[in-house]
Amino acid sequence: MSEFILETNGLTKEFKGFVAVSNVDLKVQRGHIHALIGPNGAGKTTVFNLLTKFLPPTSGSILFEGQDITREAPVVTARRGMVRSFQISATFPNLTVLENVRIGLQRTLGTEFHFWRSKKSLDVLNGRAMELLESVDLAGFADTVTVEMPYGRKRALEIATTLALDPKMMLLDEPTQGMGSEDIARVVELIRKVSANRTILMVEHNLSVVANLCDRITVLTRGSILAEGPYAEVSKNPKVLEAYVGSDDINDAHH
Ligand SMILES: Nc1ncnc2c1ncn2[C@@H]1O[C@H](COP(=O)(O)OP(=O)(O)OP(=O)(O)O)[C@@H](O)[C@H]1O
Ligand SMILES: [Mg+2]
Repeated sequence: MSEFILETNGLTKEFKGFVAVSNVDLKVQRGHIHALIGPNGAGKTTVFNLLTKFLPPTSGSILFEGQDITREAPVVTARRGMVRSFQISATFPNLTVLENVRIGLQRTLGTEFHFWRSKKSLDVLNGRAMELLESVDLAGFADTVTVEMPYGRKRALEIATTLALDPKMMLLDEPTQGMGSEDIARVVELIRKVSANRTILMVEHNLSVVANLCDRITVLTRGSILAEGPYAEVSKNPKVLEAYVGSDDINDAHH
């Protein structure tokens, strides 16, 4: 098996002549936490939309575990084990936290309707859902209506519902967005924990999060890869520093 769980070759997306993603060769090593960084509008979210089939590429290909998945339906790719948090796992605001995770679990088991009719099988599901909530430190919120959850905890719930699918690879788009430092620290630890036995690809603007969590970083600017490597190397790359001129982000990231 290839050391790369995910590879793109010449991945390109044009919107009416505007090239949002240009000839991207992304390689993500199995087991890594890999960051995709870059200034606003660099094309990071578009790359995620291509990988998860929300958008078809203009050209190029996507290989997951060595298989060409470029033209495959989103649900088929998700079933292979590449899942974007809050793609499949968008949460229902008026259900409880526990109910949301239970729905995630039911999805993994398909449409075996009869199974769900027995009380016993519901107990089994509730047990597993509670385990998942415990693993993301949300057991205390099990009976909370999701809409009432503190903002900083919503990502943990999305991660729990994604974990219900037991994905091989998780895609996280700005998991710490809008959070204060306490919630950020909690999410960082959570990502580290759920990364055991799986691969994570994450878009992240907070470079101290990238510096302390990620094994490898790809820097995207104007749709193209500018640099790729470990943080210590990429953060010293003059081209990267230049791309970040005006935001001293990259120099503040050492703690
Ligand atoms: N559906 C679309 N139609 C037209 N242009 C689009 C579309 N989606 C994205 N773009 C453009 O493509 C470029 C890349 O956008 P994208 O959202 O991928 O950037 P990003 O790196 O995720 O930025 P941010 O850091 O702000 O989230 C932007 O110029 C954006 O305006
Ligand atoms: Mg984005």
